[in-house]
Amino acid sequence: MFEGFANVWTPVTLAHRLEANKPLSVVLAGEKLVFFRGRDGVAGALIDRCPHRGVALSLGKVKDGCLECPFHAWQFDASGACTRVPLNPDAKRERLFAMALPTRELGGLLWVYTAPVKQAPHEPVVPETLTRPDLTRSYLEVEWNAHWSRAMENMLDSPHVPFLHERTIGRFVRPFLKPDSRMEIGWEPTDFGAKLTSFIDGDTSRDAGFLEFYRPNMMVLTIPVPKQTFRMHSLCVPAEQNRVRMIIVGSRSFAKLPLLTPFFNWSNRRIAEEDRAVVESSFPVEVPPPAEERSVRTDRATLQFRKYYFEVLKPSFAPEPARALLSVVAAND
Ligand code: FES
Ligand SMILES: [Fe+2]
Repeated sequence: MFEGFANVWTPVTLAHRLEANKPLSVVLAGEKLVFFRGRDGVAGALIDRCPHRGVALSLGKVKDGCLECPFHAWQFDASGACTRVPLNPDAKRERLFAMALPTRELGGLLWVYTAPVKQAPHEPVVPETLTRPDLTRSYLEVEWNAHWSRAMENMLDSPHVPFLHERTIGRFVRPFLKPDSRMEIGWEPTDFGAKLTSFIDGDTSRDAGFLEFYRPNMMVLTIPVPKQTFRMHSLCVPAEQNRVRMIIVGSRSFAKLPLLTPFFNWSNRRIAEEDRAVVESSFPVEVPPPAEERSVRTDRATLQFRKYYFEVLKPSFAPEPARALLSVVAAND
């Protein structure tokens, strides 16, 4: 379960997609999930499979803060507990639970911990610019036909900016490029991942902004605007094998008029489209081990990501819910 993406907190989708009284089905790293809101409005997520006969719970209805299976109308709350089994008043409901994932709603996003555990070992690490109330935010969610690992590397890759984005963000970098220019990439490990810098020809005087990598799948770009805050958060959420949900959240302390938000989204979408075209063409679809592609010095950040990917994420998996369920039932018998 969640093979290659287990035991991590990840944003899944924009929170406003989850209405009250309506289940929302979303695929995350190959697993079908269903989100719904409890009576208190708090979001919960279950594996989208009824423990009774395996049908999709997302086809059911939300009633009184519980999700009702469309087949025999068993009901489950956001913790997965079975709250009703029609026609079986004597059923031992504590044995009939659905698989819940730890869920949070933070920074306008729904987050889950990718393992069917009662409690995650820690809380998600959320950049403060996703939650600060004094900032105005723009939200964009699009899907690419690509593996998330390729999309993530694209986000951490500064050397492509002056070339692939020569007509958009790259045009600010191009005037500084000479035929023999040299780029230095800095990678400083942090508690949450790393801080990345890139300097051309050793010129550290120009404030070129920087990137941060938040494990497992977020890049935050700090764009220098004097006395202001301007940050782009790019989240690469694995959906199916060749499908990645790209969520781009911009936070700004200026041009706060909500009327201007479509402009920020338009500009983000334009840049993302430039990236999408090349990322979707990548072969193999998933990033291969480093030795299988040729790399150079400026690939430092993507090689660091690849190290994390192959050493930590790829070997990870969470127990299959069916098996976990059986072992709990066996223990209770
Ligand atoms: S399959 Fe869900 S209640 Fe029977
Ligand atoms: Fe790009």
